[in-house]
Amino acid sequence: MPKAEVERRVQDLLGKMTLEEKLGQLQQLDGSAAGDHSPELLELARKGRLGSTLNVRGAKRVNELQRAALQSRLKIPVLFAFDVIHGYRTIFPIPLGEAAAWDPAGAERTAAIAAAEAAAAGVRWTFAPMVDIARDPRWGRVAEGAGEDVHLGSVLAAARVRGFQGADPSAPDKVLACAKHWVGYGAAEGGRDYNTTDISEERLRGVYLPPFKAAVDAGVETFMSAFNDLNGVPSSANRRTLTGILRGEWGFDGLVVSDYTSVAELVNHGYAADGGDAARKALSAGVDMEMVSRLYNEHGKTLASAEVDEAVRRVLRVKLRAGIFERPFADEKAETVLLSAPFRDEARLSAARSMVLLENRGVLPFSKDMESLAVLGALADSRADLLGSWTGDGRAQDAATIREALREALPKTRLTDSLDDAAAAVVVVGETFDVSGEAASRSDIGLPSGQLELVRRAHESGKPYAVVLITGRPLAVPWLAENARALLLAWQPGTEGARAVADILLGDAVPGGKLPASFPRSVGQVPVYYAHKNSGRPYDAASKYTTKYLDLPNTPLYPFGYGLSYSSFELSGLAASDAAVSVDVKNTGARAGDEVVQVYVRGPAGGALTRPVRELQGFQRVTLAPGEKRRLDFALRPDAPGPWQVFVGTSSVGGLTGSFVHK
Ligand code: NOJ
Repeated sequence: MPKAEVERRVQDLLGKMTLEEKLGQLQQLDGSAAGDHSPELLELARKGRLGSTLNVRGAKRVNELQRAALQSRLKIPVLFAFDVIHGYRTIFPIPLGEAAAWDPAGAERTAAIAAAEAAAAGVRWTFAPMVDIARDPRWGRVAEGAGEDVHLGSVLAAARVRGFQGADPSAPDKVLACAKHWVGYGAAEGGRDYNTTDISEERLRGVYLPPFKAAVDAGVETFMSAFNDLNGVPSSANRRTLTGILRGEWGFDGLVVSDYTSVAELVNHGYAADGGDAARKALSAGVDMEMVSRLYNEHGKTLASAEVDEAVRRVLRVKLRAGIFERPFADEKAETVLLSAPFRDEARLSAARSMVLLENRGVLPFSKDMESLAVLGALADSRADLLGSWTGDGRAQDAATIREALREALPKTRLTDSLDDAAAAVVVVGETFDVSGEAASRSDIGLPSGQLELVRRAHESGKPYAVVLITGRPLAVPWLAENARALLLAWQPGTEGARAVADILLGDAVPGGKLPASFPRSVGQVPVYYAHKNSGRPYDAASKYTTKYLDLPNTPLYPFGYGLSYSSFELSGLAASDAAVSVDVKNTGARAGDEVVQVYVRGPAGGALTRPVRELQGFQRVTLAPGEKRRLDFALRPDAPGPWQVFVGTSSVGGLTGSFVHK
């Protein structure tokens, strides 16, 4: 719909609305209870006092409630929201895992499939992507984002927005996207979910804001205000971020929804004296729609009417752009697309591409002619743990277990659950689905107890074995790093994840993923990330008065950008000029495989602010046949005059070095 037409219709509706109807548009309620809609929800819809719901999905349920809303005086449809985080019914790897594929086109495809499935089930708005930069793996929600890096996070934020919304979010297979959590939520002190954040202007602008800006530039229609206290002003009442930056500087004209009861929580923060104060502060700061708590409605008469009007305008504008006036109902026959074969194929591909080979001491890939194989560890028989947190309408029973997938792939091999009579072993260890994600922070990020013993037994048997790591976060696993014969990071790989694990273990797919977040040696190193500042006393293990720990190196266990392949690659011929880099990459191994070529820069000294020792500015994942060589070009974005250093490598450590002077 043309912009002018949208604005005309918004204005027209607004002119007809009572205060109660306006406040209704600002209310989102949780309709999650299964079975019939609550009489209250239906009643509110009929009176035009329900703007949106979360968790109501399924074409029939959606339509029932929508019919009630269309009986209201002004017939404004309800907007149905749902957390479609890494798939609706076909579950893809957790976002952190998908980030490890370094494949924006792939992330766009999986978001598009998630949108198509969700839309078929009547959902019109997803609370994704989460674009919070996270540098503390204790925080369980590290699983939901793209990891530690500003550039990778920004590229994936944009790709996911494009995948969900397409060119036009009103298309029948698209949903509105939501950039969350605005802002700084990932910087929770101590990695404890919902905790306070204290973020300098420099870090806010340099680290936390850019992925949100990328989402805005990609056309994201909605934002969610976060739970965290940001520098003493909670994010859900933070006028500077919600209005000053988002609307003022960036020109965002979509809608901002609060997080779940985050308006009411302003009282707990001690920022609002009572519910009325909370409502006034949140609305006036720029939160348009209130999720679950009802303070806007309870205190509507005390809210500034111009602010109410502006919030309603934004809600209606987004509803019009979402096409729900033209097409309020879901097609009750469309759900047949759920879990269709091409979606499952994409899930298997994206899972395989997300996996990171951390170690391989001559063990992988396993031969398919093995006579026997032990499959060990409780996670080898789990389905739910492969899906991770936020599974939409995904079902554990849709997923094969890793044992089942290996059985499918190895029809002639005897699978056992005992090492004794096996030629080799696969040991599946890591986290269950419920210890990452929201409200699932951990102070200890080692392997859960008992699992290391299992690996050690395999190790001591002297037989070849591979460890498969299922996890929602980076883990501190120094023993595995040092000893495991092979270590495959599979994340929580989704509905087809088990088959992707088998594909990789048996060489039907070649691992090519790279870490989107550093793996610490121990939790005591956290936060550890590659784009750190140099400090005045840079790390030097041999000298006392430098920045370091006495008991650990500063380096992580595995650096950002790291990952092995079954093949090998060589970079050469680096040419760096002002704003451009090119390099040759050659597959020097005996197998076709993927390499992710990464370009980092270090900006000139002497500017107004210090700069990280390295910052990613470009990457390309390429597939090369054995012996194949390709020249890759990258565009850089130097933002200051002076000498720039360039590092081109296959992780954030080492690589070819070059330089250029930016005029
Ligand atoms: C709370 C979470 O913080 C947010 O990410 C999610 O979208 C909402 N709940 C709705 O489920």
